[in-house]
Amino acid sequence: VPTICVPDADTAAALADLKSIDPELRILVWDSVGPMPDGIDQVEFYVPPYVGRVTSAEDLGRMPALKVLQVLTAGVERWLPMVGEGVIICNGRGIHGAGTAELALAGILNHLRELPRFAAAQQRAEWDSEFTAGLRGRRVLILGAGDIGTHLAAALEVFGAKVTLVARRPRDGIRGMDELSELLPTSQIVTIALPNTPETSGLVDAKFLAAMPDGALLVNVARGPLVVTEALLVELSAQRLYAFLDVFETEPLPSDHPLWRAPNVVMTPHIGGGSVGWERVATELVVDQVRHFLRGEPLANVVSDGY
Ligand SMILES: NC(=O)c1ccc[n+]([C@@H]2O[C@H](COP(=O)([O-])OP(=O)(O)OC[C@H]3O[C@@H](n4cnc5c(N)ncnc54)[C@H](OP(=O)(O)O)[C@@H]3O)[C@@H](O)[C@H]2O)c1
Repeated sequence: VPTICVPDADTAAALADLKSIDPELRILVWDSVGPMPDGIDQVEFYVPPYVGRVTSAEDLGRMPALKVLQVLTAGVERWLPMVGEGVIICNGRGIHGAGTAELALAGILNHLRELPRFAAAQQRAEWDSEFTAGLRGRRVLILGAGDIGTHLAAALEVFGAKVTLVARRPRDGIRGMDELSELLPTSQIVTIALPNTPETSGLVDAKFLAAMPDGALLVNVARGPLVVTEALLVELSAQRLYAFLDVFETEPLPSDHPLWRAPNVVMTPHIGGGSVGWERVATELVVDQVRHFLRGEPLANVVSDGY
């Protein structure tokens, strides 16, 4: 009996039609908090919740029949060490990319159009009509040419920014990481949209930041460990660089962390991918993937090389 386990009743309801493929299909619901449902030891296809308690390695150990782990996040670094070679991990690529690119765009525009300055002036009932910078002609480097990177590039180009995308495999219109030392000094905005892997962790270190020009903006909407926070704090404290950060080495960011009081930084609490409506896209992905699974077709979003 093919057994699927999903995190909520709505997703389970969306899968009900797939009984036309296999009438024996069994759908379990487990939110990863309450007691595990009967039949968990038969689960072949498991979807953990996007938010809330993280399913542990011990929990997964109670699913010896597991064949597919379909997570709803784009990043899979936490899951990789938890499953054996025989389990296929599929990520949530496509669920959060547009929303996260949108947040990066908001951070970039907030910086360039100086919205905090106008909000402060508004509080004082002051007509502070000094013009600001904008995107036209601005050089933006985006590290990562995947779901986030390509959405962000398209949005920035609408307003005339000069965008350069960088990825692991250089290809038409996409540069390689070996060109970073040339690209960084001429980029006024650098956005990190890379997965957290052994190759990318700590990439944005003191040397990387030193190569960025004075007054440049670093945007990190990917994962905290890609940026060496200590090194970034040095540049922020000197007020040489600016940053927009949605992700942090430690989350939640501890209340005594120096970033809270650092100058030149705007932060959001890892909300990039979680804008209203993400659930619908997630459910569509899960239904498609379970359909492929039941029909023995190739799955989408299969993780290889750590992302
Ligand atoms: N803030 C949030 O809420 C939020 C939401 C979604 C995602 N994220 C994070 O953002 C990451 C990226 O998301 P995505 O959906 O855009 O992923 P994606 O579609 O898989 O794209 C990843 C991109 O990174 C490139 N890349 C991977 N390893 C690299 C390396 N060592 N050097 C250079 N480039 C490398 C890939 O290159 P190729 O094109 O050559 O494969 C690809 O272009 C996720 O892994 C996740 O951790 C955060």
